[in-house]
Amino acid sequence: MRAVIVNEPGGVDALEVVERPDPDPSPGEVLIRVRATGVNRPDLLQRQGLYQPPPGTTDILGLECSGEVAALGDGVTGFAVGDQVCALLGGGGYAELVAVPAGQVARVPEGADVVDAGGLMETTCTVWSNVVMIGGLDAGQRLLVHGGTSGIGTSAIQIATALGARVATTVGSAEKAEACRELGADIVVNYREQDFAEELRDDPADVVLDIIGAKYLPSNIAVLARGGRLVVIGMQGGITGELDLSALMGRWGSVTGTLLRPRPPEEKAEIVAETVAHVWPMIADGRVRPIVHATFPLADVAQAHQVLEESSHVGKVVLIP
Ligand SMILES: NC(=O)c1ccc[n+]([C@@H]2O[C@H](COP(=O)([O-])OP(=O)(O)OC[C@H]3O[C@@H](n4cnc5c(N)ncnc54)[C@H](OP(=O)(O)O)[C@@H]3O)[C@@H](O)[C@H]2O)c1
Repeated sequence: MRAVIVNEPGGVDALEVVERPDPDPSPGEVLIRVRATGVNRPDLLQRQGLYQPPPGTTDILGLECSGEVAALGDGVTGFAVGDQVCALLGGGGYAELVAVPAGQVARVPEGADVVDAGGLMETTCTVWSNVVMIGGLDAGQRLLVHGGTSGIGTSAIQIATALGARVATTVGSAEKAEACRELGADIVVNYREQDFAEELRDDPADVVLDIIGAKYLPSNIAVLARGGRLVVIGMQGGITGELDLSALMGRWGSVTGTLLRPRPPEEKAEIVAETVAHVWPMIADGRVRPIVHATFPLADVAQAHQVLEESSHVGKVVLIP
C-alpha cells in the first residue's frame, strides 16, 4: 500500500510517499480501506520532529480517517466488511489501509458523506472530551475557543452552539471573523487588532479551550468566570508561562491540559463512544456540519500541509489516498 512518512524532520518537502506492506488486523482490530484522512496541526509538528508518535505507534502520519471496513480481526463484533466507517487513530491515516482497535471506529454519521467524515474524528473527539467531558460546558454557559476557523475551532463553535452555550472566539482576519459568526459565535475577536480579555470583561468564560498556551495564559485566566475552567490543548504560543495564582484563586478557577493521541485504547474508546452518542445526532439533524476547506490526493500531501502552514483554511484539509 502507499503511505506517507517523514524520514528526516523538516519542511513540507520532508513528506515522502512510500510503499509499505498491507497491514493485517490483529484480534480486536478493524482493517479500514481509507477513503479520506484529515490533516491536523499535530501532523505538522510530527513532520517537524516536534511531536514523536507514542511508543509502539506506526511512523505513518495521520490521526483520523474514514473509509470502508476491509477485514475484521478476531473477536470484533458490530461491524461488517463494506461498512462505511470513520476512526480515531494513534497514527497511520495517511495510507491506503489502516488497522485500528474496534473501540476507536464509528459508523459515518448520518448527514455526512464518507470523504467529509475523514476529517471528523480527531476534532470532534478532542472538542467533546475537553470542552464537555473535562470542561463541563453546559447550556447557557460561555465558551471561549481560540482559533475559531481551525479544525478544532470550527468544530467547537458548532458543538457548543448546538449544546445551547454561547461562544466567543479569536481569529486573525475579518473574513475568518465572518466565517465564525456564520458557524454560531456571537463574540468574535480579531486578535491582531483587539485584546480578547478586554472584549470579554463583562461576559467572562465558563470554559476556555486554548490552543495557544504560554502567550495567552494571563489573559485566559483573566477571562474566566467564577468557577471557570481553562483547558489547554495546544502550545502554538509557547510552552512556559507565568500563572497568577491569586487571579486563579479569585475566580475559583482551574487549569487542565490534555493530549488525546497517547491515551490508551480503552480511554479513546470511551471518548469515541461519548462523541458518537452526543455529536453524531447533531450532525444528523444539521446543527453540526463537517467543514472541509479543501481535499488533495495523497501524492499532494506537501500542498495540503502548506495550506495549514499558511493558515489560509477554514475548517479541515483532507487527503484522499
Ligand atoms: N491536545 C490534543 O489532544 C490536541 C488534539 C488535536 C489538536 N490539538 C491542537 O489544537 C490546535 C488546533 O489544531 P488544528 O488541527 O485544528 O489546527 P489548524 O486548523 O491548523 O488551526 C490553527 C489555528 O491557530 C490559529 N491561531 C494562530 N495564532 C493564533 C493566535 N495568536 N490567537 C488565536 N488563534 C491563533 C489560526 O488562526 P488564524 O489563521 O486566524 O491566525 C488557526 O485557525 C493545534 O495547536 C493542535 O496542536 C490538540
